[in-house]
Amino acid sequence: MKLNKQDILKALETITAPGEGQNMVESEAVTNIVTFGDEVIVDVTIKNPSLQAKKKTEVEIMKVIHDKVYEKAKIKVNVKVDAPAKPKNGMSGGKQEIKGKPIPGIKNIVAVASGKGGVGKSTVTANLGAMLAKMGFKVGILDADIYGPSIPIMYDVENERPLSVNVGGKSKMKPVENYGVKILSIGFFTKPDQAVIWRGPMAAKALNQMIFDADWGELDFLLIDLPPGTGDIHLSIMQAMPITGSVVVSTPQQVALADARKGVAMFQQDSINVPVLGIVENMAYFTPEELPNNKYYIFGQEGAKHLSEDLKVPFLGDIPLVQSIREAGDVGRPAALQTATPLEQAFETLTKNVVQEVVRRNDALPPTEAIKITTMAGCSAVKK
Ligand SMILES: Nc1ncnc2c1ncn2[C@@H]1O[C@H](COP(=O)(O)OP(=O)(O)O)[C@@H](O)[C@H]1O
Ligand SMILES: [Mg+2]
Repeated sequence: MKLNKQDILKALETITAPGEGQNMVESEAVTNIVTFGDEVIVDVTIKNPSLQAKKKTEVEIMKVIHDKVYEKAKIKVNVKVDAPAKPKNGMSGGKQEIKGKPIPGIKNIVAVASGKGGVGKSTVTANLGAMLAKMGFKVGILDADIYGPSIPIMYDVENERPLSVNVGGKSKMKPVENYGVKILSIGFFTKPDQAVIWRGPMAAKALNQMIFDADWGELDFLLIDLPPGTGDIHLSIMQAMPITGSVVVSTPQQVALADARKGVAMFQQDSINVPVLGIVENMAYFTPEELPNNKYYIFGQEGAKHLSEDLKVPFLGDIPLVQSIREAGDVGRPAALQTATPLEQAFETLTKNVVQEVVRRNDALPPTEAIKITTMAGCSAVKK
């Protein structure tokens, strides 16, 4: 009687690995099978370090091979224990870690953040979105700035409201669309001028619905305009969604840089652990419309660039301070939609760098494990 690997694998499929929901083969606990005549060696790796689990695994494997494959097989089982790597942060203490749930159809979620408000986070998000669409990518923007949602104005859709559509028997929110960019904003659900005091968990839940219960269709990029700052509310929001990477916006000014540093640290902290794609320097210099070659470094020179070098994160590009960017924001037509201007060039360079960093990040890291969602209060919405 010759033992056959295929038959052995089939037999092993009927055993569950200790501590796993799947069978031994599926969970890749079985690492190797060697047969010689009526002898077989099975190597398995289990996660449960207890002696009892080891013994039980050994006995189960022997029994199933004897029962289902060959009753006289001489079996040797090598059980190795590979306990799951301890989370390197304090997440164990009562908080259970679950994997970021990928969103069907959405390839990359990029969060745009700034430590400080007013540095141009929404402007950068709006223009990144417009430029990505111009380059042919399928793009959505989720405006999560509960303190001051401004994407609807920057896209001239502030009077529109998302419709409800039926997708496969479920009613879903349909994002509004302009310039080829799909948009959902927390501003669509609050009255204008109403100061919204959301608690982190509430905001996380609302945003979760805007991601998981919305009909985004296929997207290459979903950009998220985060609220400014680095507080608890950011934790809740970011842990509520599987973010591919983050972009931190700063001006070259010292106070903004200090906050941008906190922004980078926020993404890198263990309970968030979102890769930082890089830093954007907004309002890098002032250029008057009538003197396009003059550059005035009103907020200091290359501060954000130096910060990116210091923090060893990529520098994604600089955007000048020009009147037409502000005007474009106010009339609701992002400046990146201009053609053949230095401004279009600046946004194009920035956008290409962001795309490149996303590609690099996706090559280097697994898609969903880069973000850790902890079941903190308020994040229950993801456990659907
Ligand atoms: N590069 C720029 N040139 C001119 N105005 C800008 C620039 N970036 C932002 N602004 C203007 O500054 C203000 C704040 O920008 P915004 O994007 O709303 O900042 P944030 O979202 O960080 O609060 C807006 O009126 C915007 O139009
Ligand atoms: Mg804003």
